[in-house]
Amino acid sequence: MNFAGQTVIVIGGTSGINRGIAEAFAASGAKLAVASRSQEKVDDTVAALKAAGAQDAIGAAFDVRDPDAVAAGLKQFHDAYGDFDVLVSGAAGNFPALASEMSVNAFKTVIDIDLMGTIHVMKGAYPFLKRPGASIINISAPQSYLPYEGQAHVCAAKAGVDQITRTLSMEWGVEGIRVNSVVPGFIEGTEGAKRLAPTPDAGEALRRDVPLGRWGQPQDVANACLFLSSDLASYISGTVLAVDGALYQRGSGKFGQMMGEMLRSMKKG
Ligand code: HXC
Ligand code: NAP
Repeated sequence: MNFAGQTVIVIGGTSGINRGIAEAFAASGAKLAVASRSQEKVDDTVAALKAAGAQDAIGAAFDVRDPDAVAAGLKQFHDAYGDFDVLVSGAAGNFPALASEMSVNAFKTVIDIDLMGTIHVMKGAYPFLKRPGASIINISAPQSYLPYEGQAHVCAAKAGVDQITRTLSMEWGVEGIRVNSVVPGFIEGTEGAKRLAPTPDAGEALRRDVPLGRWGQPQDVANACLFLSSDLASYISGTVLAVDGALYQRGSGKFGQMMGEMLRSMKKG
């Protein structure tokens, strides 16, 4: 994959899966821009992207819950680079909690980051997308189509993200902009996986639900993003692509049940 000279924006790109995606585009010669809340994480990532081979790398700190800050940050990236070839929107927050135990604000916080954040990023980037040719990738999750106990907020938010993907693939497709979602399975060593499976037993239960029998790696997800943004995928839009070792085919599996049981026992205790 050669993205030399192309402009790639990764929102939430300063750790975990999204940083892996940014690093893969950097290694293929792109100009990168990353954003998240922490200026320190942004600075660290920008340095790493330059070291990984990016033609250039810049960053900005903002919260995707603030549409004005998102729009201003994206304008800053456009002023520096011109039109965007690739936009990856992956900022997210998650914690396991039963709906009955969640405050209204707890539920809303995840909706605001994952779902509202996605539309803020997409609308903020809209004026700056290359037409025709831009590729947008929203980072979704298995929770979009698999119900997991303790995950009502993320399930609702990510289902919404994928419906935004499908809807805007039509609204923006007429301008030559492709919009897809990528659904990472359980990706080893990431914050999301640590929060859902904090113990070795929970990690093993997760792994056993994956037909391919292994955790995913950030590079697995990055490979899918490179493909979707390449000419090889020029007729692919409106898809939700699972990169999950066939996890979806097994449904929520034993892991979902285990998490519900664990959270209920904590409630009793
Ligand atoms: C119940 C909780 C809670 C918990 C927070 N809250 N943690 N409720 N159980 N464990 C409640 C708080 O009490 C508060 O409600 C409300 O949520 C907002 O919390 P804040 O701490 O004020 O929010 P904020 O500082 O904005 O932080 C957002 C956050 C945080 C989501 C809570 O964890 C965060 O910044 N996360 C980013 C990193 C992350 O989550 N990465 C994993 C992504 S993985 P009250 O009522 O008290 O005000 C993912 C899917 C993974 O998205 C799928 C894996 C397979
Ligand atoms: P992570 O390391 O916590 O990454 C989240 C990123 O988003 C960070 O860069 C974080 O940086 C940023 N972010 C969080 N809240 C933000 C906000 N309000 N505004 C701006 N940026 C914000 O998590 P991860 O586990 O790698 O997950 C990355 C993506 O993959 C998420 O979309 C997640 O839903 C999805 N996913 C993960 C898994 C998994 O196994 N881990 C599985 C399926 C889907 P700051 O803290 O600096 O803001």
